[in-house]
Amino acid sequence: MERTLVLVKPDGVERGLVGEIIGRFERRGLRLAAAELRTLDRATAERHYAEHVGKPFYEGLVAFITRGPVMSMVLEGPEDTWQIVRTMMGPTNPAVAAGGTIRGDLGVEISQNLIHGSDSAHSAQREIAIFFPALG
Ligand code: RTP
Ligand code: MG
Repeated sequence: MERTLVLVKPDGVERGLVGEIIGRFERRGLRLAAAELRTLDRATAERHYAEHVGKPFYEGLVAFITRGPVMSMVLEGPEDTWQIVRTMMGPTNPAVAAGGTIRGDLGVEISQNLIHGSDSAHSAQREIAIFFPALG
């Protein structure tokens, strides 16, 4: 069994797409291990996106992810569950995301791309410890 962190970002919550997005993962065969709707403070957002400090999109990214609630969750499934989730999300830029992916079906803008998923098993461990320390 392996776990990964997923966030439905503020745009997805605002648009009422939480059920749609969780439903896709559940139908695929992944299970929810934890979930909480929460608004990130700046410190948590900075910790989560530490790898992007200094990039041109960083300030906008932190402002966006803290502007309203995110649906944070831990999903569990087989080995490389993080990769199953990333494949279902589609690439970062919805403009090049294929139909059938979450970003390709539901999004149009790179700065509001609906969903975050950990990008490796190592990232998953790090991010789960930020959002759900009791599971760490
Ligand atoms: P995320 O971390 O949010 O799941 O997205 P990701 O792995 O697909 O993309 P990442 O490279 O980690 O970038 C984090 C978020 O920053 C915004 N971004 N904008 N060139 C740009 O304007 C640019 N590059 C990245 C996106 O909103 C991306 O989700
Ligand atoms: Mg990322």
